Amino acid sequence: MGKDKFTARLVLAIIAAALGSGFQHGYHTGVINVPQSVLKDWLNSTYEESYGSYLDESFLNVLWGVTTSIMNVGGTIGGLLCGVVSTKFGPKNGLFLNNILVAIATILMGMAKPINSIEVMIVGRLVIGVNCGLNAGLCPMYLSEISPVSLRGAVSSVYQLVITISILVAQIVGLGCILGNDVNWPYLFILPIFFAIFQVITLVLCPESPRYLLGVKHDMHKAEKSLKHLRMTDDIGEEMAEIKHADEAEKALPKVTFKDMVKERSLKIPLLIAMALMVAQQFSGINAVIFYSTDTFVKAGLEGNNPQYATIGIGVVNVLMTVVSVFLVEIAGRKTLLMVGFGGMAIITLLLSIALKFADKDQAIPWICIILVFVYIILFAAGAGSIPWFLVTEIFNQAARPNAVSLAVPTNWIANFIVTLTFPSIESAIGPFVFLIFVILNVGFFIFIMRMVPETKNKTVEEITAQWK
Ligand code: GLC
Repeated sequence: MGKDKFTARLVLAIIAAALGSGFQHGYHTGVINVPQSVLKDWLNSTYEESYGSYLDESFLNVLWGVTTSIMNVGGTIGGLLCGVVSTKFGPKNGLFLNNILVAIATILMGMAKPINSIEVMIVGRLVIGVNCGLNAGLCPMYLSEISPVSLRGAVSSVYQLVITISILVAQIVGLGCILGNDVNWPYLFILPIFFAIFQVITLVLCPESPRYLLGVKHDMHKAEKSLKHLRMTDDIGEEMAEIKHADEAEKALPKVTFKDMVKERSLKIPLLIAMALMVAQQFSGINAVIFYSTDTFVKAGLEGNNPQYATIGIGVVNVLMTVVSVFLVEIAGRKTLLMVGFGGMAIITLLLSIALKFADKDQAIPWICIILVFVYIILFAAGAGSIPWFLVTEIFNQAARPNAVSLAVPTNWIANFIVTLTFPSIESAIGPFVFLIFVILNVGFFIFIMRMVPETKNKTVEEITAQWK
């Protein structure tokens, strides 16, 4: 990974930022899936207490849809706010302050059952969504800005690694025998506060991003201090010179507005790439595969507890492969991993739709389906999971980065919203052929990546952006 090293303070900053933020994002994405039936029962009985009648099935499904997907609305709002927050407070302080939202959301979601209020639960999910939208922009931004160029991809991938770990944690603690039962479920929503407390305590010990301090605050002294702290040496001449050089080049240019982002070729193309990769990450079908996997396995013919075990197995493989990708991203490069991932997912989704169609024809087919889903997860985790979150911070300079993040992150949440909301109904209408939609989309993303996405490995922001000038 080049001459640059992980110092203890850099590692602390990575853990403080990623563990605090990624945990909220992954955990709250996954937490309401496993104990679905317990939560739906609560919605129904609370509705009856408040309004005097039980919900019919279709209204219950709508209410459930609102409770789950309101988080995406919050994520979109949070994503839109990333630019303002990162410019005003800096990525580190933005992350720090973002924990206020975790506290508010925890109180709301923790209180919902004791005070019997569906509305309070929904507002709580909205607030945690805003928190996660902000995390998804600010955290990769901070990680990419504090890392040496040759480690930037690896360091930034840690955000996605924490997301995968926390989805798995949510899937496990959400089991009926742990917290996902009608007595203990409110604790499911209280537990993540410990990660917010951890982040508040540890972030205090970490410096603000040196690139922000110089590029936005124009404070050379503090920028140098921050870099020396992170690198644990006074010998920062070469790296500081690169940061200063990039800053001077940017100062010569006028301030970047949202209008410039869509009008100027040098910004329009990277913006298209950043947004398309966010859409690609979601439209690859990942959340349909992860969160409906128990269902998929039942349809494939697995019986008893096997579908649940297979689902937990998927969570484990997702984590393990994301660990591998932290290293791969600096060895194979971003573009190769994305092409292998999307190309491979196109083939696997095609095979999966065929296998599911013939699931009852042969005893081996359920097992083939499981293998296909595992390979799919490996391909996703190789790069499609982590790279879109940080590539947006790599292909824009300091002046355009906040605006770019503010447009790319909401794109991800909106795309996520569309897939999670529409997948169940499309699936019930066309069955396994639903995966054919992902085949077509993944082929399209493969071609787009091949033609448009630059390799950013080991390149400075200046070198990367020069190609669109
Ligand atoms: C990415 C996606 C998220 C998904 C996760 C799975 O972070 O943005 O929606 O749940 O990967 O690993």
